[in-house]
Amino acid sequence: MIEFANRLESVEEYYFSRKLREVNFLKANGKPIINLGIGSPDLQPPQKVISALVEGLNDEQAHKYQSYQGLPELREAIVAFYRDMFDVYMSPSTEVLPLMGSKEGIMHISMAFLNEGDGVLIPNPGYPTYTSVTKLVGAKPIFYELDASNNWLPDLDALEEQDLSNVKLMWISYPHMPTGAKASEAFFTRLVAFAKRHQILLVNDNPYSFILNDSPKSLFSISGAKEVCLELNSLSKTFNMAGWRVGMVLGKSEFINAILKVKSNMDSGMFYGIQKGAIEALKCTKLWYVSLNNVYEQRREIVWKIAEALNCTYDKYSSGMFVWAKLPAYVKSEEFIDVLLKDKNIFVAPGTIFGSKGEGYIRFSLCATTDDLEEALARI
Ligand SMILES: Cc1ncc(COP(=O)(O)O)c(C=O)c1O
Repeated sequence: MIEFANRLESVEEYYFSRKLREVNFLKANGKPIINLGIGSPDLQPPQKVISALVEGLNDEQAHKYQSYQGLPELREAIVAFYRDMFDVYMSPSTEVLPLMGSKEGIMHISMAFLNEGDGVLIPNPGYPTYTSVTKLVGAKPIFYELDASNNWLPDLDALEEQDLSNVKLMWISYPHMPTGAKASEAFFTRLVAFAKRHQILLVNDNPYSFILNDSPKSLFSISGAKEVCLELNSLSKTFNMAGWRVGMVLGKSEFINAILKVKSNMDSGMFYGIQKGAIEALKCTKLWYVSLNNVYEQRREIVWKIAEALNCTYDKYSSGMFVWAKLPAYVKSEEFIDVLLKDKNIFVAPGTIFGSKGEGYIRFSLCATTDDLEEALARI
């Protein structure tokens, strides 16, 4: 009998992979499902991005293996994007690595920095991939709890009281997914100091920086952050390019080289046309961000009404592509979303898939048209 690797016992199939099968089955059986579960942008990327991809196809270079580090032009475009959007200056030749989405970066960083048994600080609630990847590489998740009462920021004083000697890496993600909470520059400064004090690699996963956020921030705005930090970013949400799989990791050259050591053994470069399209996206002017956010703002207004109709409460000052809503007391997230799916044919994500601290919450995605959202509101 062929047995699976032991590491598979540490993880389960991704929640959405499983649940969307059920949702799609209902759809195939004629149920008029409105999917407010997953954050997959339904809007189109900028037209010039698509044109650059199409033109790139006819280039002689297009079909060869590509550089492991990405086209120099792409690295330049990423660095210019960071300079213009965050006032952060990185070297295009040594301090940036294009990725196939930020999700793969979570695996590459973990492979490059973690040994078996190392401790990893992971937000609860947070993006489930931090936990599964930590387990896949044989490291140990150590959850730090986030709470609305502390604006979903880690309690650093409480963390200082724990034994952190085994901790090698800490994941943060601000604007935070799923709650949409933001961290101030002062809080980033405290986090960097904490990471330095304990020699912990601090990684900010930052894919929502430009969605409904009037003050986008990079960890690298904090002086000295390069010593102990990495940052992931992505074109998935900012430019509606989730299916293209383009992300990036930034950090000092020693860290980037370590990640490249892993990555260059896993893939053989990003498709040329995709890189050409990504370069165009990164060059978008402020107009792009304004028009994108106008759409999300209109959608969010309706989602707020849906949340109110369901007797939920929410924070109007949050950022990102979701509305994180608190259910009435004693209502369980998964039971609630199952009833909503069954009775109203509306799918929303239960807070529990992001960790035990998500119990009592649900997450609405803004990746649905205003027509669909109005229809959902009418059904409720
Ligand atoms: C917090 C967080 N990080 C990373 C990702 C992955 O994004 P990408 O498409 O860049 O791989 C997501 C996607 O939903 C996310 O929510």
